[in-house]
This record gives sequence, structure tokens and C-alpha cells, in this order.
Amino acid sequence: MKYKVDFINSSYRRYYKTHRREILWAIDKCFSLGNFVLRKDLLEFEGKLAKFVRVKYAVGVNSGTDALKLSYRVLGCGPGDEVVTVGHTFISSIEEIVHLGARPILIDVGEDGLIDVSLIEKAITKRTVGIVPVHLSGKVCDMDEIMRIAKKYKLWIVEDACQALGAYWDKKLAGGIGDTGCFSFISPKTLGGAGDGGGIVTNNRKLYQRLLLMRNHWNITQGALHGAQPKTPKIMEWGYNSRLDNVQAAVLNIKLKYYPAMLKRRRKIGMMYNKGLKNLPCILPTQQPKQIYQEYIIKVKNMWKFKKYMDGKGVELLIRDTIPNHKLKGLGMEHFNLPITERIARESVRLPIYPELTDKEVNYVIKCIKEFYNRV
Ligand SMILES: Cc1ncc(COP(=O)(O)O)c(C=O)c1O
Repeated sequence: MKYKVDFINSSYRRYYKTHRREILWAIDKCFSLGNFVLRKDLLEFEGKLAKFVRVKYAVGVNSGTDALKLSYRVLGCGPGDEVVTVGHTFISSIEEIVHLGARPILIDVGEDGLIDVSLIEKAITKRTVGIVPVHLSGKVCDMDEIMRIAKKYKLWIVEDACQALGAYWDKKLAGGIGDTGCFSFISPKTLGGAGDGGGIVTNNRKLYQRLLLMRNHWNITQGALHGAQPKTPKIMEWGYNSRLDNVQAAVLNIKLKYYPAMLKRRRKIGMMYNKGLKNLPCILPTQQPKQIYQEYIIKVKNMWKFKKYMDGKGVELLIRDTIPNHKLKGLGMEHFNLPITERIARESVRLPIYPELTDKEVNYVIKCIKEFYNRV
């Protein structure tokens, strides 16, 4: 179906059209120099990412999922452990806990879609080792309370900030508050690259050094990025192949330059929706002053009827995850009782939001939604 205002693909195409020469030049440089694995564009990207999140260290990995996996592992998560997180998230936050033999303990979210911090302490047992707050849709969880609880029970915190690069909690940036922060650079993310990519940030030097080894089979000699041909570590551990490709880093270095302006534009679009859609029967997303609008999700009672109407008007909406993670058959999580998570799954509709969207297109989306509710 050809949409008048489409969601994802237009964003990719328009971004590429504007930055084509720069992107091709960066890729050409990598090919010309043979810079593919653990080379200088990656080192540059890691430096820039750490600076952007205002932390000491960043490690490029091959996805947000791996950022979570390596974080959990580096913090010692393993069989028998319990980790408190939310059901209302992308499956990776939960999946990687399970892969390590640990048990995810899922709790509900508030109306804002973020972890309900009043439920965390009730979920903690003798086996709990960590908390994974998920900063969903570009908003940040209550990190003051989460830090307080983690300190009280001596737990680690891995921030799933895959949807929140650049969002603030007070004066700190999402991802830069817990033991590690995880980011995704898969194409639809605010800092999306050409396919898969991810990053881990931390202020802890020991964790950083271990993460560098872990993402590369515990072998830092290959590619010799971080210094001249270091010695093989005395004690080996089982590692992974989870490097962020150098070409991918080169592409991301370009986008990072424009990222603050892109976030500004997202905010402007978010504000336009806030203003244009107020007083309609749909529920607008709760707001945070320094969110980044990774997504703009409205809650609509009859979401499929709404989607059909908007399709007819040529507006592409995204409806995803209509079955919440804990209700998916075969994953063994159906015993969790998460009423708000379940309701959100039944009502959430994503409106088009990306920096390249024009004011005219945003106003058209608003007009169509008003028409749906007979409010023109
Ligand atoms: C909240 C959240 N966590 C984790 C991930 C996993 O990231 P990736 O797709 O890069 O593996 C994503 C994105 O897809 C996400 O939105």
C-alpha cells in the first residue's frame, strides 16, 4: 500500500538523500583503507558516544540485545539468579536474562509505560541480583528511586536505554546512571544506522575492560584497536563475537553530528501532536520535559478501526506487540499478572514521528485523527 504519510521507510530514504555524499564518502574510505573490524571509526564512535552520554567509557557491540547480554554477564548474572524488570518492553530485555540461566521477575508499569517503582521492593527476594529499568519510548524511569532501592539491597542496575539516547533524568542522561547503560542503533532507532548495532556505556573501568574483551572472544589482539598489540590476557573467559562493525561506526559517526538537531525536530513534532490532539477521546502519552520522542504512542479504545480509517486516509500507523511478552505462548511467563501492561498492549498506536517529517505532514495526520473523532 502506498501511503501519503508513511512511517519508517521514508525516514531512511530522506535521511540518505540529504547525507548521501557524506555517507558514501565514509564507506568508501573504510573500503579503500580496509578498515572493517575494530578500526579507528569504531574507536572514534566510542569516544563520541561516551562524551554524548557524559560517561567515561563506551563499547560498540553488534546490537542492543547484545549490549544487554554482555552487561548482564559482565555483572555476573547466572543460573539461579533473579532479575527484576518489566513485561512492557522489547523482548530482548527479558530474553537475555533467560539465556544466562537466570529468572526474569516481571513487574507492571505505570500509565506512562515505565516501571512502577512502587512494585520493585515487593519483587525482591534473596535471589535478586539486579534491576533492569527500561526507558521506553524516549522517556526515563524514576532513576532516583531505582538507585535508592539498588543501593539498599546491593543490586546492580542495567539501564535498557535502547529507546532513550539523549533523554535526561534530571541532569543525568539515560544510560549514564546505572552500572551500565545499553543502546540500540538498529535503523528505526533515533540514532539508527545501516542495520544492526549497539553500544554499552559505563563509568566503571573494570567493567569496561572486561566488556572490551568479552565482545571479542576475550581476544584484544585481533585488530589491535585499543593500543599496540596487547598481550593475550593471562586468564581467559568464554567470550562472544559482538563487535560493532567499523563501517557501521563510520555511518553512525556522521549521524551523531546531526543527532542534537534531529532530537530537536522530534521534540517539535511531539509538541505539535500534543497541541493538535488535546481534548480528543484518545489518551496522549504522558510527558517528560527532556524526553526524546523515540515514539509517539496514543491509546485508542478501538485501535483496529482507527488503523483502518487512517489507512484509508493514507497515514501509516504502527500497531505492534498486541500480545504482551508475558502472555506469549511457550515462554513460560504466563503466571505474571500485569494488568496495565496488558491494557497498554490492547490500545497502543504509534503515530509517524521522525525528524524528516514535514509540518504539513504532521498537520495532515492531526487533521485525519480529528476527523476520525468527528472533531473538525
Ligand atoms: C527497549 C529495547 N530494548 C532492547 C532492544 C534491542 O535492540 P536491538 O534490536 O538492537 O537488538 C530494543 C530495540 O529493538 C528496544 O527497543
